[in-house]
Amino acid sequence: MTSKLFETYTLNDQISLKNRILMAPLTRCMADDQLVPTDAMAEYYARRADAGLIISEATIIRPDGQGYPNTPGLFTPEQITGWRKVTDAVHANGGKIFAQLWHTGRVAHPHFFDGDKVLAPSAEKVEGTVPRMRDLSYITPTPATHEDITQLVADYAQAASNAIDAGFDGIEIHAANGYLIDQFLHYDSNKRNDEYGETPQNMSRFALEVIDAVSERIGAERTAVRLTPGAYFNMQADPRDKAVFDYLLAQLELRTLAFVHIGIFDDAMEFDFLGGRVSDYVRANYSNTLVGVGGFTPQTGEQALRDARFDLLAIGRPFIANPDYVEKVRQGKPLTAYSEEMLASLV
Ligand code: FNR
Repeated sequence: MTSKLFETYTLNDQISLKNRILMAPLTRCMADDQLVPTDAMAEYYARRADAGLIISEATIIRPDGQGYPNTPGLFTPEQITGWRKVTDAVHANGGKIFAQLWHTGRVAHPHFFDGDKVLAPSAEKVEGTVPRMRDLSYITPTPATHEDITQLVADYAQAASNAIDAGFDGIEIHAANGYLIDQFLHYDSNKRNDEYGETPQNMSRFALEVIDAVSERIGAERTAVRLTPGAYFNMQADPRDKAVFDYLLAQLELRTLAFVHIGIFDDAMEFDFLGGRVSDYVRANYSNTLVGVGGFTPQTGEQALRDARFDLLAIGRPFIANPDYVEKVRQGKPLTAYSEEMLASLV
């Protein structure tokens, strides 16, 4: 019954996938104190190399992008060398891996880096405290100047270039889940009145500048993007956000990116202002390769591919619980259920 999941898929003339199951990006906070990937991380990813494509855990492009402890980076020679061990191990097992490039914007915290401010589109603070570090409260961010924005775009492009040097097959720009790029795309966090705010075109500008700079550096066919039109994490949805994503998706349709990936925990969530599920909204506005995610079993994922709701299926938590997820599904074996205690170690 699960044959669609195991069909090959051609992303473009550079990259083809041996099946349609992606390992979703999963932050594990297990890099060393210099944010260098460890040997244990290389083994963890290598065990999952039978996925059609692995997306790495979110990886920060520069120090002030850090919002959680021990998240890996891609901005020092040691980090590039550490990632090289990961990509070599994945490739040795016949897999492919993209790096997810991350800047947390207003969700960053100076506790993690040398500095006293965090950058975001506007001085709109997130309520609450840093997960895993509950004594750290989020601070009011500093609105990024035009100079800051130019530097951020350059730093994304440099991190993408570093990813290719580290042996990654491509990169996914993390423009989802309430982090820096997503903060420009929603009215809740973007209160600017310059050319990066107020209108769908302006609010999409930073995302498109990053996407275009990265594409120019490493090739559009190696560049993917993850988006969260339905805000659900560190962000309030606003019905006006739909026009921003209508514009952005129309712009992405004109580019030849590797894929667009939806950022959400549960695909069944419905958003009135988007007319229902985020995946259906994006599918209606974007006709190239789309990756769906969020709460899928092998059976419901297979059905979604058959119904052409999206082209590739990303699997998150079940991949933490089952390093051999792909083989178990292929053989119809029962899966181990995910539980949060599993986050304590890299299996
Ligand atoms: C995530 N998710 C996530 N998303 C992302 O874009 N970058 C990341 O680094 C992470 N990190 C992360 C860590 C952990 C522990 C979880 C559980 C989730 C979201 C993830 O990619 C995926 O969208 C969700 O887990 C929903 O898919 P599943 O788990 O229902 O298959």
